[in-house]
Amino acid sequence: MALKITVIGTGYLGATHAAAMAELGFEVLGLDVVPEKVGMLATGRVPMYEPGLEELLARHAAGIEGSSGRLRFTTSWDELEDFGGDVHFVCVNTPQKHGEYACDMSYVDAAFTSLAPRVKGGALVVGKSTVPVGSADRLARLLAEHAPEGVDLAWNPEFLREGFAVRDTLHPDRIVVGVDCERAEKVLREVYATPIAEGSPFVVTDFPTAELVKTSANSFLATKISFINAMAEVCEAAGGDVVKLAEAIGHDDRIGKKFLRAGIGFGGGCLPKDIRAFMARAGELGADQALTFLREVDSINMRRRGHMVELAREAVGGGSFLGTRVAVLGATFKPDSDDVRDSPALNVAGQIHLQGGQVTVYDPKGMTNARLVFPTLGYAESALEAVRGADVVLHLTEWPEFRELDPAVLGEVASRRIVLDGRNALDGTKWREAGWTYRAMGRPRA
Ligand code: UDX
Repeated sequence: MALKITVIGTGYLGATHAAAMAELGFEVLGLDVVPEKVGMLATGRVPMYEPGLEELLARHAAGIEGSSGRLRFTTSWDELEDFGGDVHFVCVNTPQKHGEYACDMSYVDAAFTSLAPRVKGGALVVGKSTVPVGSADRLARLLAEHAPEGVDLAWNPEFLREGFAVRDTLHPDRIVVGVDCERAEKVLREVYATPIAEGSPFVVTDFPTAELVKTSANSFLATKISFINAMAEVCEAAGGDVVKLAEAIGHDDRIGKKFLRAGIGFGGGCLPKDIRAFMARAGELGADQALTFLREVDSINMRRRGHMVELAREAVGGGSFLGTRVAVLGATFKPDSDDVRDSPALNVAGQIHLQGGQVTVYDPKGMTNARLVFPTLGYAESALEAVRGADVVLHLTEWPEFRELDPAVLGEVASRRIVLDGRNALDGTKWREAGWTYRAMGRPRA
């Protein structure tokens, strides 16, 4: 008989994982403490913008007519206990603590505390949240104390990217499982049996290595972005072109082409907080020296936002932003997402606004979240409306829609034709031909 699976925490990670498990044929129960989220998911609606997820839910959510009915959602721990799951995936978030680098483990701890007495003997609990190394050992002790006999733990980090969550979950480029017994590995091999694992390397490790794989992967990605942004700074000083430079070094397979896009840097709910939590944990372990370079990675990244603000200031005359109108294209931390957590775009918009600029933001999917985070900014319903009367246009999130804009049309409504491309993603020639001063990041001016 097919395994019964529960997923605790139904954010980006959990909702996608639950739907993917149902797609593979398992009977799945998703649990979240937020009733609104559960209500939406149960009726096939996704609380965030994630391409492909709604279709997957529609195929399986029990609340939808014609679906397989294999996927249910609840807020009730009692219902989870009655469900009698064989495998429980813990997917709750681990945000950065207020005013500290360390991550907040309270949601993970609460989930394990509620789960432990409710799992049946012989079940497997699988942690997927990104946690400080050493957490799995601690949580295994918690299970040993509060769960019935024979309950094992595995740590199975997730590498999905927002905007590609469904694809990354159904076709991961690797599956990593940290275990301390053969049985846990066997159960996870069964869960991930084809088609999910087809072609995906299956890497089995101990607990600390599995936890570290996740944080080190994100640290490497962050380092790669800050490296190219550091080169952008040097290119600007020396008159070089960082886009050409990235292309040229990327031809070397050992370096690779990906994650070498210079611009206003990385943001989102993962990379910034993960590198900070990693530094904090290394400090606790007495290994802080090993990760001091991440402080530099973080500071290069944050400097990019300040640099964009200074480029905008220069564009409006070099002094105060007071009395100037600034159009901001993009609010999310990257395209194909409605997520504005630690968004470089929104941060730049906010800084200019707080310095007296009249900022108008437009984003294809991020307006609702941006308004919640920064209600005092101006918002427009289209790029054209945002640009109307602007002294400078900032392109801060590389949505495909912005590449398709006609600079000649925008030029008719802008007050001055100056565009700053914070993502090096617009066609500079096209903008220049339409009479705009086009300036990119780490590239020659003219
Ligand atoms: C990241 C990891 O990629 C993923 O494996 C992990 O599971 C979670 O964290 P995500 O936060 O969805 O995923 O975003 P990602 O696509 O990695 O982009 C992160 C940020 O880096 C974005 O703000 C993006 O704009 C920026 N970025 C990315 C660059 O500035 N330059 C690049 O070359 C690549």
